[in-house]
Formats: sequence, C-alpha cells, structure tokens
Amino acid sequence: MARKKQKKVRKLKEKIKPKKADPNFHREDSKKELKISAIEEGTVIDHIPADATFKVVEILKLNEIKGVVSIATNLQSKSLGKKGIVKVAGKILTQEEVNKIAIVAPDATVNIIKNYNVKEKIKVKTPEMLDNVIKCSSPVCITNHEQIPTKFYVVKKEPLLIKCHYCERMMAKDDIEIR
Ligand code: CTP
Ligand code: ZN
Repeated sequence: MARKKQKKVRKLKEKIKPKKADPNFHREDSKKELKISAIEEGTVIDHIPADATFKVVEILKLNEIKGVVSIATNLQSKSLGKKGIVKVAGKILTQEEVNKIAIVAPDATVNIIKNYNVKEKIKVKTPEMLDNVIKCSSPVCITNHEQIPTKFYVVKKEPLLIKCHYCERMMAKDDIEIR
C-alpha cells in the first residue's frame, strides 16, 4: 500500500518537473531584471516615480478599463532610482488624459504602441486646469459637501501650485489627494 502511494508521489513529481531551460530565457533571467511583456497595441507610461505609480492608476481610472492593464513598480531605473511602468493594452490614451498624470509624474514618458512598435513617444505636459481629478484640501470647500466636480487652476508648474476654483485654496504637490 505504502509503496503504491510512493509511486503516485513520484509520478506527480515527474509531471511538474520543469522543461529543459530555453537558452534565451536563461540569458534574460541572468540579467535579473523584472519584465512585463511587450504589448501589441496600446499605451505604455514609463519613467513614473515609484511612489506615484498607483496614483497614475487612480488618475487615469484604469480600474474601469476592460482590457489588460499591467502595472509594475519599484523597478530599477538609472535616472529615477526606482520607477514604475503602466501598460494599457488595446487603448490609445489621449494627450489630455495623459496630461493629468503630469501632476504626480512630471517626467513620465508616454509611448504609443502599434503593431509592437513604439509609434510615438510623448512627454507629459502639465495642463492649465484640472477637472475633477483632485480633492480640495479645504474642509469647508463646497466640493467637499456637495456633489460638484472639483476644478483647479495650475498657478505654477515647477514646483507645482494649484488653486481651487471654488474656495481659492492654494495647494502644493504634497497636499494633493486624488478624488
Ligand atoms: N514597450 C512595450 N511594448 C512594445 C514596445 C515597447 O511595452 N511593443 C515598452 C518598453 O518596455 C518600454 C517602453 O515601452 O518600457 C518604451 O519602449 P522603448 O522606446 O523601446 O524603450 P526605451 O528606449 O528604453 O525608452 P526610453 O528611451 O523612453 O527609456
Ligand atoms: Zn476648494
């Protein structure tokens, strides 16, 4: 009986034995880099400061997207130390959509991918106005009491300073909370 069981275990072990390593895989692996697969069609947002990766996800409302979204953060980057990458397959984000991320990732690069190739590489631009992206930090602001979309004017881009359209509260980068 016991021997039968042993045989079964051995059989199972054999089943999960890895296939012979592909020489290419080995080469990639030896670089010790974390990778997310290339996309055929869509948008890749690269060079996001690591602490802003999930803010980008929130700002672009990627949780509502039906297609494949890949998110990687705390990747090694020569220029940023640690960076994040967000890949949205099957969707070309507009410059306007992408500009919102300038608030948290001013040095991000947006790559438009078509047929596996980088068709366009765009730098994000801080917009002049922010509609319904950020929460006003003033507790008495009307936008925190009624169902009104928030609206901010960008007063200064570097360092970032924005002003609430309703209560005129000035906010800097550290006060920013996504709505
Ligand atoms: N990328 C992708 N799918 C493709 C092509 C590119 O996901 N079919 C991603 C790459 O992984 C990279 C980004 O898009 O994160 C930009 O690609 P590329 O311009 O080839 O990379 P770099 O030269 O490293 O870009 P940069 O100079 O902006 O750092
Ligand atoms: Zn306000």
